[in-house]
Amino acid sequence: MMRVPFVAGNWKMNTTVTEAEELVYDMLDRLDRVEGVEKVLCPPFVALVSINMMLRGSSIKLGAQNMHFETLGAYTGEISPLMLGELCEFVILGHSERRWYFGETDEMINKKVKVALSHGLKPIFCVGERLEENEAGKTREVIDRQVMAALDDVSPTHDLVIAYEPVWAIGTGRAASGEQAAVTIKFIRSILAKLWNRDIAQDLRILYGGSVTSNNIAEFISQPEIDGALVGGASLKAEDFLGIVTQTAEIKYPHLPSPFKGEE
Ligand code: 13P
Repeated sequence: MMRVPFVAGNWKMNTTVTEAEELVYDMLDRLDRVEGVEKVLCPPFVALVSINMMLRGSSIKLGAQNMHFETLGAYTGEISPLMLGELCEFVILGHSERRWYFGETDEMINKKVKVALSHGLKPIFCVGERLEENEAGKTREVIDRQVMAALDDVSPTHDLVIAYEPVWAIGTGRAASGEQAAVTIKFIRSILAKLWNRDIAQDLRILYGGSVTSNNIAEFISQPEIDGALVGGASLKAEDFLGIVTQTAEIKYPHLPSPFKGEE
């Protein structure tokens, strides 16, 4: 099975609803025309309803940035899979900012992964080691624990995308090298092969995230192990995000003619 390249923009806690609509408006037509790449926007919760309407009939998909693991009830301020199910196809789970600023544990992330899948939402599940863990040579140990815990008691599924986001590379301008990212992504496939099976390990999309821009995307995408990117800061600028998506199409499909690459 060929892995369709995947690029998602995680807008984090940025943009008012008006700004979110303007950003989508700026890139909608051009982004829509890039074929062969799954394109996903993950705006803040409050913009999901209107962005969902703007994206109707386009090839661009919508994702949320987080979700509670209960479906409904007395959980003031939380957003449930039932609510997201009407609006989104994807949901980012286990992002390091959720883990480190909001105390999300592996156990909570496991509950979220299970409930998302059972409600037809596709998790973009994030893993990544912190700087001190990287420097102590513990990257593999950390990633292994995060993957095994989040997927505990989860049946093999194609409805999952994994993002390798080293914490030290997020928002720092200090991206991993393409080679470093590819090595860890290959390791994630080996965990999936042991936990589930070899076929699914080869089929699932695994992204790199952490200071990706239109200037360095080529380094990641040219690695066969890396299927795309989860983009933070650069996804808030229409031209940058378009550049990332367009280069992904160009590099993953070098033989296809230019209309395919979304050119004017
Ligand atoms: P930056 O691209 O801003 O480093 O953020 C990456 C990220 O955390 C995406 O989820």
